[in-house]
Amino acid sequence: MSWLVRVDHITYACEKGMIEKWAWYHLEVEGGRLVTRIDDVDPENPKSSMKLWCIDFGAFGIALVEGIDRAEKSQVTLFADCHGDHSVQHVAYDTSDLDKFMDRLQQYGCNPLGEPISKKDGFGILKQLFCKGYSQLSASETQFAEYVQRPRSIQEELEVTFSQKAGKGFYRQVEEATAKGEITTFTTFSAMPSDWLPPAVELPFSASRNPERVTSEEPTISQ
Ligand SMILES: [Fe+2]
Repeated sequence: MSWLVRVDHITYACEKGMIEKWAWYHLEVEGGRLVTRIDDVDPENPKSSMKLWCIDFGAFGIALVEGIDRAEKSQVTLFADCHGDHSVQHVAYDTSDLDKFMDRLQQYGCNPLGEPISKKDGFGILKQLFCKGYSQLSASETQFAEYVQRPRSIQEELEVTFSQKAGKGFYRQVEEATAKGEITTFTTFSAMPSDWLPPAVELPFSASRNPERVTSEEPTISQ
């Protein structure tokens, strides 16, 4: 079974002064809708902060972040310096059940960055978990996964809202990990059997949901 339901949002790190230009592109060219505009997510933070603009496309969202440097360089500035303008900082995947998926991550030796957070983000109410970086770059510079659970009913919305634990926002979680020099990666593949082989190729999930669309056993790949 697939534990991931869909891509929830993709977050791009923009170079200084570029968030307006990329917002123009996603809004005017791609047809998104600006649903959140925060020009300073952490105004009390003397070290640094970031801008966060959220653009909704209905089935998924795009978040644009741009660093605000104060006593220190923002983690977003460091990320864009390392990877370039409008680079993917993280992809957030919607899970069918975040608590169960977190157990699964632990079982497979995959490391979260901190505790899960329940809150309202630019796209609505959610429960979210940020993970440690995929690579050994610093916590500010590495790309990472976010796993979320969006409520799909009023009952689930109440459960998410009232399961709220005290949690630090993602900006502070990355800031603390950077300060600690945290370089533990998301996974060392310790749970992967040494004799693991990729399985035989199967039909995509969409084919089993829409069997009438399947016209032959061999999928045709167009070049
Ligand atoms: Fe995110």
